[in-house]
Amino acid sequence: MSPAAEIARRRTFAIISHPDAGKTTLTEKFLLYGNAIHLAGTVTARKNQRATTSDWMELEKQRGISVSSTVLQFDYNGCAVNLLDTPGHKDFSEDTYRVLTAVDAALMVIDAGKGVEPQTRKLFEVCRRRGIPIFTFMNKCDRPTLDPLALIDELESVLGIAASPIVWPLGSGPSFRGVFDRTERAVHLFERVPNGAYEAPVNITGLDDPAVRGKLDDHTFNESTEQLAMLDGAGHPLDLAAIHAGQQTPVYFGSAINNFGIQLLLDGFLKHSVPPAPRRSVSITVPGAPAPTEAREVPVDYEKFSGFIFKIQANMDPKHRDRIAFLRVCSGRFTRDMVVAHQRTGKQVRLSSSHKLFGQERETVNEAWPGDVIGLVGHDAFGIGDTLTEDRAIAYDEIPRFPPEVFAYLSNPTSSDAKKYRAGLEQLLQEGVVQSFTPRNAPPGATLLAAVGPLQFEVVQWRLKSEYNAESRLEQTNWTLLKWLEPHPSLANPSALVVASGVSFGTDKFDNPVALFPNDWTMRYFMEKNPDLKLHDMPIEQ
Ligand code: G4P
Repeated sequence: MSPAAEIARRRTFAIISHPDAGKTTLTEKFLLYGNAIHLAGTVTARKNQRATTSDWMELEKQRGISVSSTVLQFDYNGCAVNLLDTPGHKDFSEDTYRVLTAVDAALMVIDAGKGVEPQTRKLFEVCRRRGIPIFTFMNKCDRPTLDPLALIDELESVLGIAASPIVWPLGSGPSFRGVFDRTERAVHLFERVPNGAYEAPVNITGLDDPAVRGKLDDHTFNESTEQLAMLDGAGHPLDLAAIHAGQQTPVYFGSAINNFGIQLLLDGFLKHSVPPAPRRSVSITVPGAPAPTEAREVPVDYEKFSGFIFKIQANMDPKHRDRIAFLRVCSGRFTRDMVVAHQRTGKQVRLSSSHKLFGQERETVNEAWPGDVIGLVGHDAFGIGDTLTEDRAIAYDEIPRFPPEVFAYLSNPTSSDAKKYRAGLEQLLQEGVVQSFTPRNAPPGATLLAAVGPLQFEVVQWRLKSEYNAESRLEQTNWTLLKWLEPHPSLANPSALVVASGVSFGTDKFDNPVALFPNDWTMRYFMEKNPDLKLHDMPIEQ
């Protein structure tokens, strides 16, 4: 197959949802279509474990698929599918956001009985900022749902995205009879059988077609006919350009647990979604070059290999204490043993231990194309956001920094393992597991850690213990907001500034000044009293 054909058949996406909407169940059904049935069992096994243990660390020890695995790769209908897992734990973390930088599209799963929930909204926002296509699956249609028109309306009013229903539910709860495929004008009947349900597709001319009319009670028939007429008249017609720009979402209805409507969703998604898109390289100074490079788009079919690391996962395999750096290929062809530049350190590295991951299974990967995700083992210098490339003029800056929302002091309670503690913490900070800051008046020996979700702190403590055999103590703080400050003479003596109690000043790891606030009110008070000091969500570029 030509490189162009290899790239064109790649589909790299993530499923985003609020916990319990059905992400795990849907993933399992997708795997069935990808003929990975034995592995679909792994997902189920994970779910059974979850029922017996609520402890995340226990789950991690069990190598539960949703916690540990990062990518599931399978072939379906000629497409090479990379399904990236976003951590499903309720304690949201930066990891989830970062995974979304490596995908080309997202599939949003919504519990049709509940509508848009808070975590869906957060994840949706991250995807929207990237302008990637977002597909919607309204799950659990076998149970009573909200009015489907209200669900569509919610996508538009709450998320602000135009919605174009591709399939439409016929009834809900006990009277759910199936879905109507608006593009093919076919009905897929939902037949309940002992231990599940099956799907019987029937091509029809309309809902009054005798092939289905008898299956629908009068209420469902009248209601669905009316809704479909409304959609045909006033709904958004399918607009591929708008979908690809992330301005319109195609909507599917079904029931993951009953494997109903899933094939329609998967087929539609693979057909209307996008292959890997070009990524942007930032301007950098290459040693020995007379001038910095120009920022530019790197075409996916550019022959030189490049990619960026979006996640580092340690201890995936309990038998090997290792860390895997997950790299998204952006251009060229990856081959095992190739030598590439590690852009941040300028060192040449040989990529010999490269893996394709499938849940807990590892398979050596000899070749990968743009869109693929590979796991690289044995490179301690790799950190999140790093670029690996055959062309030194390429540097990706794909991993955005997210404003931290939780802050805690970490310290080492025992002096005997102080050296291991310091080495471990330094490594984890370099990997980008959490951010660190230095507030004035910090307790001696304590490091202020900052993260998007508290789960990230647990990961730090657990990894310090398991990889470095170092104890650590975590102490929560009251801060919930951090802002970067523009340099200003008055920062030389911050105790002279008028601030509410609980506000502190400090620096980030590059010595940029920051301010820490307990809440929104204290921040607004600060801004009012110190109009000369400008606050920023992100570090000011030097
Ligand atoms: P998540 O990964 O998004 O957190 O959701 P997950 O797939 O674990 O599903 C959450 C719950 O919803 C599970 O029930 C699952 O069986 C159920 N579920 C998923 N899809 C459907 C559907 O189409 N219809 C209905 N009625 N339920 C669905 P649970 O009780 O938490 O777990 P389990 O005991 O069923 O394994």
